[in-house]
Amino acid sequence: MNSTPKIYLETYGCQMNVADSEVVLSVMNQAGFQRTDDMSQADVVLVNTCAVRDHAEERIYGRLGAFHAHKKAHPGVVIGVLGCMAERLRKNLMESESFVDLVVGPDEYRRLPQLVDNAFSGEKGIAVRLSRVENYDDIVPLRTDGISAWVSVMRGCDKFCTFCVVPFTRGRERSRSLAGVVREVELLAQQGFKEVSLLGQNVNSYRDGDHDFADLLAAVAQVDQEMRVRFMTSHPQDMSDKLIAIIAGQSNVCKYVHLPVQSGSDRILQLMNRTYSSDHYLKLLERIKRDIPGVSLSTDIIAGFPTETEEDHRMTLDLIRTAECDGAFTFKYSPRENTKAWHMGDDVPEEIKTRRLNEVIEIQRAISYKRNQEMIGQNVQVLVEDVSRKSAADLCGRTDTNKMVVFPRNGSSVGSYIQVAIQRANSATLFGSEISSN
Ligand code: 5AD
Ligand code: SF4
Repeated sequence: MNSTPKIYLETYGCQMNVADSEVVLSVMNQAGFQRTDDMSQADVVLVNTCAVRDHAEERIYGRLGAFHAHKKAHPGVVIGVLGCMAERLRKNLMESESFVDLVVGPDEYRRLPQLVDNAFSGEKGIAVRLSRVENYDDIVPLRTDGISAWVSVMRGCDKFCTFCVVPFTRGRERSRSLAGVVREVELLAQQGFKEVSLLGQNVNSYRDGDHDFADLLAAVAQVDQEMRVRFMTSHPQDMSDKLIAIIAGQSNVCKYVHLPVQSGSDRILQLMNRTYSSDHYLKLLERIKRDIPGVSLSTDIIAGFPTETEEDHRMTLDLIRTAECDGAFTFKYSPRENTKAWHMGDDVPEEIKTRRLNEVIEIQRAISYKRNQEMIGQNVQVLVEDVSRKSAADLCGRTDTNKMVVFPRNGSSVGSYIQVAIQRANSATLFGSEISSN
């Protein structure tokens, strides 16, 4: 073992997992572990997992194969599975993957140092209790980025959409204190961070005494006018006019709303327990577009939910056309054990799911293309995030509306705000050139 034990951590799934991994690294750091990006150097190998779709779990099983090989070569290494898949499979995971030493759910990360210590002396550990209160409010996450930070403001979900495993893997809703979140954002501002994204499975349910999410967003926006504030995810049922007014009224709150609709068929929405109609969703979008000029929107769509007919599917395509969101995250329905939808059967054949998904993707791609073409000729403010993946001569960053912009490097540095004139666009990216830095 290294004199200072080293920990290697891979993260899969949603941004909440990215934020949780930073909590894990912080807890382990406090206990004397040092982070490494090189698995071959690690004494502890952890994987923070996602269980939202079967495909996510399949990928992780693939990675577990690599960890198994690593453990064979380094028998003293402790292997731990964290997160939603750990919570979902519990001891079954340890039984099927015998080289796994630790299975730790999302509410048990404070116990990791002790569990790892025990594992070093040969004792396997399972910690999968869900908590009604744990929110890690007092833990300062160990971040590496320096520009953009994920800040978890609430955990869990009480919505119980019938397809979704999250209420089972992350437990009941609980919010951090408004003061705790603001303190964390103040610290991030002092450290030079330029953007914070407030995270929750359903941020609209945020509560701290009399304060709701709109109050939290307003308070966070006040911390530093130079700091962009994003948030996700909103639920169409709970998005208030007060919140829309805060987004519209605070210049540093990004004009971007992620608002998953899942389906355009009211029958399917009801079976999904989404608690709104397609009409409610479209009216909400109209209000958002009216009150927040230039707003950008994205949604989530599931293709092939149980009993979905061609007619239901056509309604989803119609809704996508009417909504005209800037982007959509699209998924084939994946049955998850223990959810209500699991008992509805998975009766849409795979090839039909694939075809419907492709139709959804194609229609959205054309809308995204059109929306991005409308940006040509405009000047946008970009927060420079990185060198472009495709060319070292280009930089990339996002507009406050969350659109990716690529432009020739012109002396500007990562973390600065610059003005870019947009010259061309495809469905995913805007391209332009720098006007001036500030
Ligand atoms: N199958 C397919 N997609 C799912 N999602 C959640 N659960 C499932 C499932 N069982 C999608 C929803 C949600 C997003 C995070 O993942 O669209 O909004
Ligand atoms: Fe899952 Fe629905 Fe909660 Fe989102 S709102 S995490 S889809 S149960």
